[in-house]
Amino acid sequence: MHISQYGNSIPRSLSFIFLFLFQFETVFPAPTGHVCHPEQRDALLEFKNEFEIGKPSYICGDSFVPKTKSWANNIDCCYWDGIKCDPKSGKVIVVDLFCSGLHGRFHSDSKLFRIQSLRFLDLSYNDFSGQILTSVGNFSQLATLCLSYNNFVGEIPSSLGNLSNLKFLQLSHNNFIGEIPSSLGNLSNLISIDFYHNNFVGEIPSSLGNLSNLNTLYLSDNNFVGEIPSSFENLSYLDILDLSHNHLVGKLPSLTRLSILRFLNVESNIISDKFPSWLTSLTNLRFLILSFNSFHGPIQKIKSLKKLEIIDISHNHFNGTLPEVFANGCNLRTLHVGHNELAGKLPRSLSKCSYLEVLNMEHNGISDTFPFWLESLQSLQVLVLHSNEFHGSLQHHHPKSASSFPELHIIDISYNYFSGILPFDFFVYLRAMYSERNRSELKYIGEERVYYQDDSLVLLNKGVEITYTRILTLLTAVDISGNRLHGEIPKSIDLLKSLIVLNLSSNCFTGDIPSSLANLTMLESLDLSHNKLSSQIPPALGYLTSLSTVRVSHNQLVGPIPQGVQFQTQDSSSFEDNLGLCGRPLDKKCGDVDTEQLQEPESVEEKEEEEKVFSWTAAAIALAPGVILGLTIGHFVTLQNPQRLMKISVRHQYKMKHKNGTLEADSG
Ligand SMILES: *[C@@H]1O[C@H](CO)[C@@H](O)[C@H](O)[C@H]1NC(C)=O
Ligand SMILES: *[C@@H]1O[C@H](CO)[C@@H](O)[C@H](O)[C@H]1NC(C)=O
Ligand SMILES: *[C@@H]1O[C@H](CO)[C@@H](O)[C@H](O)[C@H]1NC(C)=O
Ligand SMILES: *[C@@H]1O[C@H](CO)[C@@H](O)[C@H](O)[C@H]1NC(C)=O
Ligand SMILES: *[C@@H]1O[C@H](CO)[C@@H](O)[C@H](O)[C@H]1NC(C)=O
Ligand SMILES: *[C@@H]1O[C@H](CO)[C@@H](O)[C@H](O)[C@H]1NC(C)=O
Ligand SMILES: *[C@@H]1O[C@H](CO)[C@@H](O)[C@H](O)[C@H]1NC(C)=O
Ligand SMILES: *[C@@H]1O[C@H](CO)[C@@H](O)[C@H](O)[C@H]1NC(C)=O
Ligand SMILES: *[C@@H]1O[C@H](CO)[C@@H](O)[C@H](O)[C@H]1NC(C)=O
Repeated sequence: MHISQYGNSIPRSLSFIFLFLFQFETVFPAPTGHVCHPEQRDALLEFKNEFEIGKPSYICGDSFVPKTKSWANNIDCCYWDGIKCDPKSGKVIVVDLFCSGLHGRFHSDSKLFRIQSLRFLDLSYNDFSGQILTSVGNFSQLATLCLSYNNFVGEIPSSLGNLSNLKFLQLSHNNFIGEIPSSLGNLSNLISIDFYHNNFVGEIPSSLGNLSNLNTLYLSDNNFVGEIPSSFENLSYLDILDLSHNHLVGKLPSLTRLSILRFLNVESNIISDKFPSWLTSLTNLRFLILSFNSFHGPIQKIKSLKKLEIIDISHNHFNGTLPEVFANGCNLRTLHVGHNELAGKLPRSLSKCSYLEVLNMEHNGISDTFPFWLESLQSLQVLVLHSNEFHGSLQHHHPKSASSFPELHIIDISYNYFSGILPFDFFVYLRAMYSERNRSELKYIGEERVYYQDDSLVLLNKGVEITYTRILTLLTAVDISGNRLHGEIPKSIDLLKSLIVLNLSSNCFTGDIPSSLANLTMLESLDLSHNKLSSQIPPALGYLTSLSTVRVSHNQLVGPIPQGVQFQTQDSSSFEDNLGLCGRPLDKKCGDVDTEQLQEPESVEEKEEEEKVFSWTAAAIALAPGVILGLTIGHFVTLQNPQRLMKISVRHQYKMKHKNGTLEADSG
């Protein structure tokens, strides 16, 4: 149900097919009055019987059509579902079986290989296994080959370089192995190569630099080694270059001539280079992803990149300051420079980036005061300043009240040197967290864009990372831990009705735990540990049935621990080192009278507990669009019971989304 809801975000190889079929439709009108060749019909019928129709791929949703089911002897095969014939010769030229639920092993003597007239073969999104590439050389006319999302194995034979009409070669999400034969560099008509997520090894052949018509090149998520071929600087029609998640070394070639390039992703390699100054020539670049490499040195002032929407240069060794580059126009949605060695201040020109949604500066040495000057950014949803040298007070002296941070719902300023009191009105400005978000309107940051980014969250669960593939817009979190704040926790905290994560630990807060916290009915993680809070834990907190993690250790609290299930199931270390806490889960017993008084009805809790599990399950299911675009869901099972949400940090992964067969230039 949730998957079909996202049916319009067609995976990229599907979209190519639609585009291409459409071309066929116009070039070859319906085969009027043609009778298919009997030997081709028989070959297709035998091919049909080589495979079972099993469960459709979960990705297909509404696109699932068991096309071969309708194939029958008494109908002209040119009219079968998924088959098209050449209007002149009557020979089969299209076999389009994507999302047809086919299951079984391909053998090199499959009857399909008899259909030598084939120009278009799409077997993607089925459950095929076995080798196929050794025999596709039989289709000498082939222009489109789509095998994505199956379990095909084997190497690419160098004879594939003989299919000189090939335009689209989509092999993503299989188990193909071996090296890319350099003969592919002879396929001068190639427009698109997609080898995403296989087990290819070896160096990327420099002959690919000869593919002068190449528009799309995905080699991501394989085991390629060596350097990026310098011949790539000749790929002047390239729009998308994705080399992420390999073991590539060396420097980036100078890609100045790729003047229409919009998407450049080299994430997660071992590239050791300076900031590429030639980027200035790429005036159409929208995505720049250099994260998880060994880039170093200062970040160049990049002029004329006004179209950039996503910059992710995190997890490198960039140093120096972030240049003031945004003053003359800025289209940025995400700026992620976390985990570098940047110093100095935040560039004030960021306030010109009115589309900015995610700003992540974590783990640098940035020394500045709190950026209240970003308050007017109407789209800012996520602000992460974790582990820097931010300092000064959080007192906002010139608030524009109503319009302050109107969309901010994740703020992490932990591990800095903010000091003074937490002003009573600090929470008042976070209006986006006031009202509960509509859980039936699950969305992800960036979802409505044609190009989208996966901004994912990593939540540590006892040291095990759970990756939320994309940030749910309904996740709301405030993490102020590890600063030097003192004074009382402002009562205004209860305005943030949609808060799910609150971490105030490791400061010097004094006074009571505000009982108004009991009004935060969505709260799942509450950490008040390592402060100087005193008196009792408000018994009303025991009614917070969403809570799965509570920590109040290392304070000066006294009296009984609330008796709700959520408190009773915590580890006793969550309450240790206080002046006088008593009752379960601590060993220290309270006076009988006290416990009696605070006993609460348990039946309510159980019902609510079920509800909690349900809502997280819903969230997990709804994360499936990430899966559609080829991301793992292994972790999501864990989400159904997020016992201990700990440190939040924002991580990003990027994929492309195509719409209606074409990559749209304007994302609005
Ligand atoms: C490829 O085509 C040739 C010529 O028609 C045929 O003899 C051969 O069996 C075909 N190969 C396969 C694997 O079907
Ligand atoms: C591919 O072409 C080469 C010559 O370019 C030829 O030697 C070879 O036999 C061909 N392979 C196939 C499988 O047709
Ligand atoms: C490319 O084609 C030429 C001739 O068409 C051939 O001589 C050469 O061997 C081919 N290159 C590769 C790497 O197969
Ligand atoms: C590119 O093509 C040219 C001529 O077609 C050829 O001489 C050259 O060897 C090819 N480069 C690579 C790396 O295959
Ligand atoms: C780019 O193409 C030109 C002309 O085909 C060729 O001379 C040059 O060597 C190529 N550059 C690289 C780095 O391969
Ligand atoms: C940046 O790092 C390089 C070494 O990679 C060092 O030589 C340089 O002094 C550093 N610059 C700054 C401003 O820290
Ligand atoms: C939540 O969203 C759903 C679907 O858009 C809508 O039907 C429903 O009325 C909304 N509920 C609230 C409380 O806004
Ligand atoms: C919760 O909010 C209501 C009104 O919004 C208020 O009357 C009540 O005192 C609050 N409860 C706590 C425990 O602060
Ligand atoms: C709260 O923040 C501290 C310090 O950043 C961290 O160690 C702790 O795990 C966090 N607590 C929770 C419950 O996430």
